[in-house]
Amino acid sequence: MKNTVVTFKKAKADNMKQSMITAYDYSFAKIFDEAGVNAILVGDSVGMVCLGYEDTLPVTMEDMIHHTAAVARGAKNALVVADMPFMSYQTSVYDAVKNAGRLIKEGRAQCVKLEGGMEVIPQIKAIVDASIPVMAHLGLTPQSVNAFGGFKVQGKSSTAAQKLMDEARAVEAAGAFALVLECVPAKLAKKVSQNIGIPTIGIGAGNGCDGQVLVYQDMLGLFSDFTPKFAKKFADVGLMVRDAVGQYITEVSDGTFPSAEHEFKVDDDIVDTVK
Ligand code: KIV
Repeated sequence: MKNTVVTFKKAKADNMKQSMITAYDYSFAKIFDEAGVNAILVGDSVGMVCLGYEDTLPVTMEDMIHHTAAVARGAKNALVVADMPFMSYQTSVYDAVKNAGRLIKEGRAQCVKLEGGMEVIPQIKAIVDASIPVMAHLGLTPQSVNAFGGFKVQGKSSTAAQKLMDEARAVEAAGAFALVLECVPAKLAKKVSQNIGIPTIGIGAGNGCDGQVLVYQDMLGLFSDFTPKFAKKFADVGLMVRDAVGQYITEVSDGTFPSAEHEFKVDDDIVDTVK
């Protein structure tokens, strides 16, 4: 069944937790889609886990469109969410609508995600008015890494906790259909989830959220630069890849690969005609 923003919102009413995972290319999108994930996020985390940047700030609209289009071709049933990169929406409401439109038109996403609270309410309203669904993102918003002074848990003081609750209500009122809560204490994320009508999708925000999202490289052991505390490793695919490539190197060097089963055949008399 095709997941949409409507099925996503209904899932909260039906008390059904939604699973989201990142993907950045066709092959992985297809595997995750076939596994039955509800949503695939083409995150601007692409900058760190695929492009090797130290944060998400250098990611461009062209990067996001390129990767979103690849994912959209692989995702038949999952809702495709495209991240709006740094400075594609903060600059003006006009830029926000124009760039959200590009992710839908050129990237073929079904909705966009953007980071921030009160300061992006006009952008959320304008994008939603253009019939583009918006997933909001509060807590640790990685595009604000310089303002936060690092990747840190948010909402730990009562002022910060109240601000998070107020901003969650504000993004809902502005028309967001869902809200990512990143690196927020579990009890606070649960309280926010219980006090708004749209589904919350947690990452490092405990199991009181209405769904979860993980970066696939973190959950599959494919990114070793650092592992966030919240990222459970469901499999060590990185280890499997290293073993497999090691075996390939050995078989190439000792001549056992390729063997007859991986060769194309031709009649000897044809080869004999070649001078
Ligand atoms: O870019 C990303 O992958 C994200 C998730 C961490 C939610 O925004």
